Amino acid sequence: MADMNFTGPEPDLQDLLAARPQLQMHAQDGLCLEDVPLNAIADQYGTPVWVYGAGTMRARFAALRDAFAAENVPMHIHYAVKANDHLAILNLFCEQGAGADVVSIGEFRRAIKAGIAAKNIVYSGVGKAEAELEAALAAGIGQINVESAEEVEMISAIAARLGVVANIALRMNPDVDAGTHAKITTGLAENKFGIAAEDIPALYARAASLPGVQVAGIAMHIGSQILSTEPYRLAYEKGAEMVRALRAAGQNVEVLDIGGGLGIGYQDEPGLNPAAFAATVRQVTHGLGVRLMMEPGRYLAGPAGVLLGAVILQKQAGKRFVVLDAAMNDLMRPAMYEAWHGILPVDASAFHAPATPADVVGPICETADQFATNRALPDLQPGARVALLDAGAYGAVMSSAYNARPRPAAVLVDRGGFELITRRQDVDALWEGEMIPAPRRA
Ligand code: LLP
Repeated sequence: MADMNFTGPEPDLQDLLAARPQLQMHAQDGLCLEDVPLNAIADQYGTPVWVYGAGTMRARFAALRDAFAAENVPMHIHYAVKANDHLAILNLFCEQGAGADVVSIGEFRRAIKAGIAAKNIVYSGVGKAEAELEAALAAGIGQINVESAEEVEMISAIAARLGVVANIALRMNPDVDAGTHAKITTGLAENKFGIAAEDIPALYARAASLPGVQVAGIAMHIGSQILSTEPYRLAYEKGAEMVRALRAAGQNVEVLDIGGGLGIGYQDEPGLNPAAFAATVRQVTHGLGVRLMMEPGRYLAGPAGVLLGAVILQKQAGKRFVVLDAAMNDLMRPAMYEAWHGILPVDASAFHAPATPADVVGPICETADQFATNRALPDLQPGARVALLDAGAYGAVMSSAYNARPRPAAVLVDRGGFELITRRQDVDALWEGEMIPAPRRA
């Protein structure tokens, strides 16, 4: 199984910046996101702070949409809410015309709250609870991607009880190795996701006989951070084959949901090219006559966000440790997947200063609380700010308050200005909802 990380030589600070048009280094103002100085944001709201670029997200949505338009492939994009579920970001993608892909009633309600219509929401996930399905169906959810025979029966029963017909797609497990990190691959037969191809025809027929469900088609999602079109081609060929086989057996198949997983460049690996992806989709689905849907998350949001932190101190202990005020509870990907994230100093003078190896860590009492090992960085004195790059997806959503660390603020940069979109959590809010029981009498 391939590692999460690209194994080429590490890019230097100039390379990191050059590969990211959303970031600029200004001689006076230092590092900017969409031309807004990160120093100004940290001055006003403190650190650690999440900063997201609205222009970058819109541009990435447009690039994906246009790639399919150029191939003459009508594509319905459902943003995978799990990547970054902030209301402001859901609202932004809603305004671009996206639907949503959700995996819980919480995500469903967020999407609704942000303005996405229920009919444009797809519900995925291997374990949807009865109460969640009931609420989603009652609210008129557009499609439920079903992952087992058991779930088909459950949904039909709930829908029948509510007097509605659930629009479902069967998630097929294509048994394809997406070549990603073992913890995020989903398309292998051994994974918990989806329904084996050989079981689909019988289940499709069974579903057609049930009162509460109507099967629209087939869904797939083979993994995340996929950097090549090949696993997609293999999976989608199997999906197209399934569509044809089902139709030959007299079934009605209208929809093919091709999932998400488009990878981005964290180190110096090129991200998946949307034009190449769209061309692959056209080649494999050409003439199939299905309504195509997809569910990208990381591709749309990842490169648009940074986690901005400040140096608490530099510790010399045989090697150099740069201790930040941001930690693994904020950005968990390095600790959880050994993921590589670029780190840029915010001040221009530091950016241009000579770099030597340092371990970049957080203040949490765990060895895993480490953002980078032997990373070439300049001298970073207490108070110096750094940006952890490509943190717009699977960043804030995966954070916790471990070590009683309040959750950071979040700021949205847009059209040359910036605005607070999440207040920094108060320390008192950490124990909101907790109770100390009165002593129990014997
Ligand atoms: N659709 C389904 C059914 C999914 O399970 C996922 C992601 C997506 C769409 C969106 O995938 P994307 O386009 O964002 O790759 N926490 C991990 C990533 C987990 C992805 C889980 N499923 C990370 O930080 O890398």
